[in-house]
This record gives sequence, structure tokens and C-alpha cells, in this order.
Amino acid sequence: MKKWLTIVSAAMVVILAGLAAYALHPEKGIPAIPYEAIIKHLPFAAGGDLRYHITVHKPYKEWDKWPGKGEMYPGKEPHGALLTTYVNKTALDSIKKAKGMAEDSIIVKENYDSGKKLNAVTVMYKVKNYNPEGGDWFWAKYDPQFNILGEGKVEGCIKCHGSVKDNDYIFTGKVTGK
Ligand code: HEC
Repeated sequence: MKKWLTIVSAAMVVILAGLAAYALHPEKGIPAIPYEAIIKHLPFAAGGDLRYHITVHKPYKEWDKWPGKGEMYPGKEPHGALLTTYVNKTALDSIKKAKGMAEDSIIVKENYDSGKKLNAVTVMYKVKNYNPEGGDWFWAKYDPQFNILGEGKVEGCIKCHGSVKDNDYIFTGKVTGK
């Protein structure tokens, strides 16, 4: 009797483990819908969604840096004495083509003081039809803990970057034929 109990319970353990493995397996259980399939234009033009995208979904630290710019290159006011600028694949392609920045381009810039202390992270995200008068850029500023300090059609950002409107509001390098 005892032997049977052992066999039955062992069999149940095997079956349950199998069922669990089946259910939890990403390709067999409920199909995992890719984030890209749900939201065509990634992410939404909102500080929180953009933060999720650049820190969790596609961590910007794994992106390429702005071509020709290394880590902590010297910057100007107001951003910081030292800057490190990352670009997503779309932005990188656009910079290389130099015909303006394509939609879904994201540029993430870390702003450090002269003592290499991170002060803020500023982001430009090109969103189709978001703000045609402002080059369709969504602007965001985060503190080092990624709290949102500013987001959207931020007047200060647009005003200053507007001085390089012909270069698609970009200072760091030539990105248009103009
Ligand atoms: C007073 C002018 C000024 C203001 C205001 C300003 N920027 Fe900039 N920004 C610059 C300059 C100049 C650069 C080039 C890098 C450098 O030398 O600091 C730059 C570079 C950038 C870049 C890298 C891409 C590029 O354009 O070269 C991003 C991203 C950026 N700024 C985001 C922002 C955001 C977001 C805001 C608003 C919260 C903002 N900036 C406000 C002057 C400004």
C-alpha cells in the first residue's frame, strides 16, 4: 500500500511539474505578445512611458553613443560640463544619412558636472505629428533617479533648440543637408 502511495505521488509530482513547465513556457502557454505589436510607435509621448522604454524595455546604456562622441565629452550651458549622448538605432541611421531625424528617433543625454556627478538626463524623442511647429520633438528631463523634471512641449527646450531649427533642432552634429 505504502509503495503504491509513493508511486502515485511521484507520478503526480511529475505530471504537475510538466503542466507547470508547459503553462509557463513562453512559446507554449499564453503567447507573449511583443510590445512592438501592441504599440506601433514606441513609446507613447509621455515621460513615464519614455522612461520605461529607455530604462527597462530598451536600456539606453546598451545603445550606440552619438557617432564620434565618446563618454563625458565637454558640453556647454545649460546642460553640463560633461556629456554622454546615446542614440537609438533609428536616430543613428538618421544621423548617418543626414536627411533629418526619422520618427521614433530617441536621443538620451546624460549631463554631468565638472566633477563627473550626474545631474540630469535629457531626452529628445521624435513622434509623428506630435508637434509640427516644434519639429515633432517630445522633450523630457529626468533627475539622476529618473524622476520626471519636465516633459512634453517644454518651452525652454524648444526656444533654445529652435535656434538650430534648420538642423532639426539638433546641436550636436549635422543631421540635415541644410
Ligand atoms: C539655452 C539653450 C538650451 C536649452 C534651454 C536646452 N538645450 Fe539641449 N542642448 C543645447 C546645446 C548647446 C546642446 C549641445 C550639447 C552641448 O554642448 O551642451 C544641446 C543638446 C541636447 C541634446 C542632444 C541632441 C542635440 O540637440 O544636440 C538633447 C537630447 C537635449 N539637448 C535635450 C534638451 C532638453 C530636453 C531640454 C529642456 C529640458 C534642453 N535640451 C534645453 C542647448 C540647450
